[in-house]
Amino acid sequence: MSGAEAAPRTRRRWKDRTRSWYQHGRFFWGWLRDPLSVGAILPSGRSVARLMVRGVRPGVRVIELGAGTGTVTRAILDAGVRPEDLLIIEKNAEFSRFLSRRFPGVAVANADALELSRHLGHLSGPADFVISGLPLVLFSAAERMRLLSQALAALAPDGVFHQFSYIGRFPIGRAQLDAVDVESSLMGFATFNIPPAFVYRLCRSAAPEVSRESRLDGLTGALGLDTRAG
Ligand SMILES: C[S@@+](CC[C@H](N)C(=O)[O-])C[C@H]1O[C@@H](n2cnc3c(N)ncnc32)[C@H](O)[C@@H]1O
Repeated sequence: MSGAEAAPRTRRRWKDRTRSWYQHGRFFWGWLRDPLSVGAILPSGRSVARLMVRGVRPGVRVIELGAGTGTVTRAILDAGVRPEDLLIIEKNAEFSRFLSRRFPGVAVANADALELSRHLGHLSGPADFVISGLPLVLFSAAERMRLLSQALAALAPDGVFHQFSYIGRFPIGRAQLDAVDVESSLMGFATFNIPPAFVYRLCRSAAPEVSRESRLDGLTGALGLDTRAG
């Protein structure tokens, strides 16, 4: 490759790197100001984002909860979701402003995810995916259930809920999931994320097709056999 061909590529790489440092800086600053709400020192890495958007494809409607500076949002849009089919609920005002600038055409509600039901009018119908980066372990048991019931109400019957967790289990206990007829499965483990993260999928127990698919996902993901494109 000639020097003239390499120059734009190098420039692009530096631009990407600078953008990524800037996002990390903003996220870290957000964490310093409100550690308990932000819940992580750094935004998720690409491996988490890839797992979180598994199955997302053009034509689906997505709700993203707790988008931070938009690592997972970028992956959702890159999977082919139209900006008007994506609704973000982000509690942090600075992150929300940043997301609105970064993703024109996407509805960004600067709001508490516990008020999710108030914002559904931004979408043209029930969601196929709720993708959550919320620090659920820091929520009370009552808040988790309130969140879950609103997410289920927002989802189509075969819709699914994706959530990452650093603790090695889905942050809502089995008894609580059983109470709303929902089952969880492990989709995969992002070893190189800081910190390493588990990604889980929830679906309604009464949706046999989705359950079979999610079990398969859990198995392939847990074994590191990620055969699908991210
Ligand atoms: C661990 S960060 C994840 C950020 C991003 N999804 C990622 O993976 O990099 C959690 C995010 O959830 C937001 N958040 C926390 N509690 C929230 C709530 N009740 N409603 C909406 N957003 C919330 C925080 O402001 C933060 O942006």
